[in-house]
Amino acid sequence: MAGSSASSGRPPLFATEKPARVAAYAYRLFAGTVLAGLLLIWLYRATHLPPRSSSSARWWAWLGLFAAELCFGFYWVLTLSVRLSPVYRRVLPDRLTQRYKEEELPGVDIFVCTADPTLEPPMLVISTVLSVMAYDYPAEKLNIYLSDDAGSVVTLYALYEASEFAKHWIPFCKKYKVEPRSPAAYFARADSPPDICGPKEWSTLKEMHKGLTDSVNSIAHSGKIPEASEYKVMGFTQWSEDATYKDHPSIVQVLIDGNKRKTADIDGNALPTLVYMAREKKLQEHHHFKAGSLNALIRVSSVISNSPIIMNVDCDMYSNNSGSIRDALCFFLDEEQGQDIAFVQYPQNFENVVHNDIYGNPINTVNELDHPCLDGWGGMCYYGTGCFHRREALCGRIYSEDYKEDWSKAVRKTEEVDELEGTARSLATCTYEHNTLWGIEKGVRYGCPLEDVITGLQIQCRGWRSVYYNPARKGFLGMAPASLGQILVQHKRWTEGFLQISLSKYSPFLLGHRKIKLGLQMGYSVCGFWALNSFPTLYYVTIPSLCFLNGISLFPQITSPWFVPFAYVVVAAYSCSLVESLQCGDTAVEWWNSQRMWLFRRISSYLLAAIDTIRRMLGISESGFALTAKVTDSDASERYKKGRMEFGSFSLMFVIIATVALLNMTCMLFGVARVFLHEGATGFEALLVQAVLCALLVAINFPVYEALFLRKDSGKLPASVSLVSFCIVLPLCILPTNIQI
Ligand SMILES: *[C@@H]1O[C@H](CO)[C@@H](O)[C@H](O)[C@H]1NC(C)=O
Repeated sequence: MAGSSASSGRPPLFATEKPARVAAYAYRLFAGTVLAGLLLIWLYRATHLPPRSSSSARWWAWLGLFAAELCFGFYWVLTLSVRLSPVYRRVLPDRLTQRYKEEELPGVDIFVCTADPTLEPPMLVISTVLSVMAYDYPAEKLNIYLSDDAGSVVTLYALYEASEFAKHWIPFCKKYKVEPRSPAAYFARADSPPDICGPKEWSTLKEMHKGLTDSVNSIAHSGKIPEASEYKVMGFTQWSEDATYKDHPSIVQVLIDGNKRKTADIDGNALPTLVYMAREKKLQEHHHFKAGSLNALIRVSSVISNSPIIMNVDCDMYSNNSGSIRDALCFFLDEEQGQDIAFVQYPQNFENVVHNDIYGNPINTVNELDHPCLDGWGGMCYYGTGCFHRREALCGRIYSEDYKEDWSKAVRKTEEVDELEGTARSLATCTYEHNTLWGIEKGVRYGCPLEDVITGLQIQCRGWRSVYYNPARKGFLGMAPASLGQILVQHKRWTEGFLQISLSKYSPFLLGHRKIKLGLQMGYSVCGFWALNSFPTLYYVTIPSLCFLNGISLFPQITSPWFVPFAYVVVAAYSCSLVESLQCGDTAVEWWNSQRMWLFRRISSYLLAAIDTIRRMLGISESGFALTAKVTDSDASERYKKGRMEFGSFSLMFVIIATVALLNMTCMLFGVARVFLHEGATGFEALLVQAVLCALLVAINFPVYEALFLRKDSGKLPASVSLVSFCIVLPLCILPTNIQI
């Protein structure tokens, strides 16, 4: 290992592993055979086009299938090229400890953003804040900033309570090395004290935490903070009577000043700095959502701590590993390979996912395979949470080889906290950004969907590299959406954003042209063109089934040699995906469930995203037919644990899903009956592939039939959805039989 860092002679702080050469070649060989199969399928479609005269229905259906197979093929080539070179990172934090004294470590600023005290209850927010305050890192070097876009006095008060609790919680964590360091997650899990800790100390702390929870929840419920609270006098007192959360001056309040001795914890040790910020809001000014608040945080922190490393995390994602900062620093501080690393992205992991999750939420293949592949092309994407940034890169610096980071730099211009807060407040005003490069070249990008991803891409285009770090014990845990509606809406938003990017000047192919590797451009485009998969998928799950019902054959007979490429491509592609899933730690049931979710997303979220994007490009107003995501109630989460899909309310997306499911069931039943009645078993030969496809669709849609016919709970498909679906399916199944054959 020492050989790889000949010039400095220091062993590296992280290692990069690639899969064995043999595996890479085997994968290429496999991909080559699938590609050959695809070409044969296309050839078959092109050479066997039925004559138009005999049955124009068959001719049209054939042409459509050909188009769909072309789309799938091209998309598959896109995903394939990305899969070629995964890399896996491992860190060596012991070497970091040996090489750097505690006081030589760089400062770290941690940004937590919240925007809505009802959707993101203050208790959730402060649990996250406490978990990052308790990182195993020198407290003088750690600064936590909470941006509250709702400008809620309740959140500020909760943060103040949390800062008091931290004086007990942090020494407790450090003394007994407790994990995880979100007190809510810890006490929910641990029912006995850690070995060396006395039961009295433990139960006192547990009581304190319960007290904190009760008081914060009751204040959140009433919306009023206690009269006598000393926090009446600060922050919000500068607001006039008519200030609202949409129209108010900026607040910056230093709740704990790490530089002051008087704010030590109960053992007399320093505490991390804790700052509350609510940036100025004005009705007539665009506030740019989370991007705007991150940029305000970058500026506010620059006068208070100005740490060279910035980490940002969503308020519903707590730190599950107190060593994450040191792990991430292994990348930045490596003398040989760390120079050009702009950010280190951790994966997204969920706490509430149950075994054999019905929504296919365990995104193991994404985390264990897709992201390492992006990393292999030199550029993991930035997705807005669980990410460590180099401040300079985030602020727009272009990478150059002779740039050397000064890790010890951290300026505090003044010791006077009032003065500091005043300066910081002026940096969080609406007007500050006017006529500056903020949101364009500096900080997080404005004015495009998925600004996180674009920000990451821009940083890479400036010559920086990014890495993906996925440790066995996860760094951050969040909450997965546990209702179908939420998931579909979320995916519609993402897909729409990705498609818009791909069709705009921010397209990875344009923005990244000659700046990042082609493989990485393609890697970004895999998500970029999700939406376009929707049309061929919808076609494939409806037309062959309808044709089966009507006895129109669209695939080769199984005795024909042309059957081989079809069978090979399907079996090969799906077994490969199953094996990958199993290797990445999913169960077979989870794989099956995630296949169902792919189907649902493609025919609902992606379809509507594509339609909306097209409408917008044509200048027609947006449809706005997304349903609103609701907070899941306790009945719903019980159903989730039992593996029942949550439908519940009327939505266009559910109508599409129910219609496709019903259509396939009808085609299956009547199609089989028709063949037997009219043609006997021999009639199957020409239709076998379609019969199998239809049967598979019926099998995968089982939860939909359950929700349509069998369930009685409030999560079933509402009668209105069933009715509309029946009304669509009925004419579709009756009409064609009369027209032709
Ligand atoms: C979270 O941390 C705990 C230990 O604190 C560990 O047991 C658990 O496996 C971690 N969770 C994940 C998903 O890695």
